[in-house]
Amino acid sequence: MPTNPFTDPAQMTPLYGTAVRIKHRTTALLAAKISGANATTALTQLVASVAPPSPVVADIGCGRGSLALSIAAHLRPARMIAIDQSNALLDAVRARAASAGATIQTLQADFHALPLPDGELDVATAAFCLYHSDHPQMVAAEIARCLADGGHAVLATKSADSYHELDELLARTGLDPAASERQSLYSSFNSTNAAAVTAAAGLQVVDIANEQHVFRFDDSAHLAAYLTTTPKYVLPEQLVDNPRSLAEELARRGIDGPVTTTSTVTYVTARRTA
Ligand SMILES: C[S@@+](CC[C@H](N)C(=O)[O-])C[C@H]1O[C@@H](n2cnc3c(N)ncnc32)[C@H](O)[C@@H]1O
Repeated sequence: MPTNPFTDPAQMTPLYGTAVRIKHRTTALLAAKISGANATTALTQLVASVAPPSPVVADIGCGRGSLALSIAAHLRPARMIAIDQSNALLDAVRARAASAGATIQTLQADFHALPLPDGELDVATAAFCLYHSDHPQMVAAEIARCLADGGHAVLATKSADSYHELDELLARTGLDPAASERQSLYSSFNSTNAAAVTAAAGLQVVDIANEQHVFRFDDSAHLAAYLTTTPKYVLPEQLVDNPRSLAEELARRGIDGPVTTTSTVTYVTARRTA
């Protein structure tokens, strides 16, 4: 396995080639969350705090479009653009926008080369996606290029030690003995380097907010539902993509009560100066 599956282009199709895996991952995580604000709500508020009236907004690495839908509903932007490299996820955005009655323009693109003219955007968001690039500074510079003078970028990421308790648990039970030694999925863009990477791309960082999120998986079935959506672990072949068997194996190894894990979520707000 390469050093970091989150920056391995070959892993993007298994991760995001359909909307199913990301939906299961988000559902399992949100159901486990016991502390920490909803990120879509927090990001929408940050965008509202910097956006001019009737803004042109792009959500980059939009996934299934939860943030784009929220911004469209709360800010009434002149244009809401949702950008992702996955056509399957953009299909999901279009379907969700249609059923919400929202107008969202979708663009399929690699975020290292955004298909937008210079200075097009009042606000750009990029939530939980710059850690998929080995060169997040290039993506931040692309975002800066697409912002109008005085426009803002609102970025979100996680701490490099996110969910380390799960790494330790899998190592301790022998299910994945090397889990704790493997590089963080968030190593390229995380709570520690996000502000520096953003500034190095030429944006002026105006605010950084960190919030600890706590998750409690009540039983092995819930934990397995999450674990099978992350590419970090090297599990016995018969347990890969098999949450029921993984849950049984976790229980057999004594993991059937609540399991708690943590992640720091970091929001960076930055401005393009003339
Ligand atoms: C963890 S998901 C986050 C989705 C969404 N922003 C959210 O917060 O739920 C990461 C997203 O980044 C997208 N992505 C990864 N690499 C990309 C690239 N090179 N260009 C554009 N999008 C990319 C994936 O397709 C996926 O939708």
